[in-house]
Amino acid sequence: MKQTNQIYVLRCLALTIIAGLISSTFSMAQNARIKIDIDRQIGEINNNIYGNFVEHLGRCVYGGIYDPESPYADENGIRLDVLDAVKDLNIPLLRYPGGNFVSNYHWKDGVGPKDERPPRMELAWARLETNQFGTNEFVDYARRIGTEPYFAVNLGTGTIEEAQQWVEYCNVKEGPYSAELRKKHGYAEPHNIKYWSLGNEMDGFWQMGHLNAEDYSKKAREAAKLMRLTDPSIKLIATGASNFRPNNDPHEWNATILSELKDVVDYIALHMYVGNHQDNYYNFVSSPLVLEERTKVVKGMIMREMEKADRGNRDPIYIAWDEYNIWYRWRQEETMTGERALEERYNLEDALVIGGFLNAFIRNADIVKMANMAQLVNVIAPIFTEKDGMFLQTIYYPLQLFANNMFGTSLDVFVDCDTYDTDEFYLGLAEQATQQKNVPYLDVSAAYNDGEIVITVINRHKDKAIATDLFSQEGLFNGEFEVFEVNGPDIKSENDFGKTTVKTVKKASLTLNEASSFTYEFPAHSLTMIKGKITQ
Ligand code: AHR
Repeated sequence: MKQTNQIYVLRCLALTIIAGLISSTFSMAQNARIKIDIDRQIGEINNNIYGNFVEHLGRCVYGGIYDPESPYADENGIRLDVLDAVKDLNIPLLRYPGGNFVSNYHWKDGVGPKDERPPRMELAWARLETNQFGTNEFVDYARRIGTEPYFAVNLGTGTIEEAQQWVEYCNVKEGPYSAELRKKHGYAEPHNIKYWSLGNEMDGFWQMGHLNAEDYSKKAREAAKLMRLTDPSIKLIATGASNFRPNNDPHEWNATILSELKDVVDYIALHMYVGNHQDNYYNFVSSPLVLEERTKVVKGMIMREMEKADRGNRDPIYIAWDEYNIWYRWRQEETMTGERALEERYNLEDALVIGGFLNAFIRNADIVKMANMAQLVNVIAPIFTEKDGMFLQTIYYPLQLFANNMFGTSLDVFVDCDTYDTDEFYLGLAEQATQQKNVPYLDVSAAYNDGEIVITVINRHKDKAIATDLFSQEGLFNGEFEVFEVNGPDIKSENDFGKTTVKTVKKASLTLNEASSFTYEFPAHSLTMIKGKITQ
């Protein structure tokens, strides 16, 4: 009897140990996995996706990049502290002068002797436009920061002739009236502006001179004809749908203009602003996936039209996300107009959303060939000034990291990690509700450039670090790998004057010796960029 008891106890013990082993094996969290394969390529990353935007709105121009009264300004009125911060963003392309502003802007008001330039009522954002800063000041600024200017013409209240004359003023060396006028204004050489947008958000009822898709297509086609007859080398951007209100069909606009302008334009411009309206972090950080969905829908439409297009040996139409950002706090009546319009302050979760947008551009590098953060200074911007100083907002840091590192060929990355479903949420209050299922906690993109790999990983998880095995499928990780991290103590952490809570930190580098894989733990609510060599 005693022996039977002992056997029984031993059996129980053995079963308990086995059960424990089985359960610990199953409950032990598996690492997430990221597989990089340099042979699985999406397309060439066009550096123009790191573009930016300057509009005559609030304190973006006056009190932002240009402020003759400021002690920081040089003899041309350019704020040098801002200029330095702008230079570090390594901006390849700068859109100007609007935005909604452009639809009632007449470029001739902003050239010639400053004391002869007429002040105008600025109707889009309710300011007095002094016109002290115009075409030539902007081109000078762009050249100083080594960026390509990108102009939008007025197809709202403006005429196709006015658009033609602007191209003539900027791009024709000599002879016709407008070219000679530029020379008289002190610019002997043409500015050679390559990128021209045919209006701004012309589908929006808020746009001055708003048109329906058919009328816009006609006006844009004729403007394009005159502009190209003036300079055949220019690249033209059509305004795609920006009106995502529930009573409107944005696809109809895009389908019409792509069909009508398929032989004419080089890009279709899309805009997207998102906000954390319901204060729901997980919904909000998934919003770049909606941009990615919209990209794919428009790509399909472009592909359909390209089959029928007659474009000679020109490239197909590409997508230009020429306005994107987070904009919801300063979006009520009193914050929308006047000198201090749209002065949104950003936090860490906003920086992660910007990282998400940039990752989405990289993952769609075959079709997204231009993008412009809206806007550069003070107005929903990465740089914020007051008379006596400036600071870098949280959203500055992801853009700076990408624009200085993420070049070459975009890779199709395999990611295996935990996911979550969002609730129904609103990107913008006037938009239709959306929902995202199976959102991976890790949002990843990778670029390969001449033996160098750059991997950007956003850990969307609010509380947990995610241990991840990173594999190279072709070639080995080899040598010192630099690691940069954008993070802060809390998702609501903000920067301010004299307080940089959220920023890029260079972490200890990783030394990898011909490794086919390595493990890295991505901290909660962070963006990490890992950069090093792959050798064959
Ligand atoms: O960037 C702010 C505004 O947003 C732009 O002027 C307009 O194009 C968009 O609606």
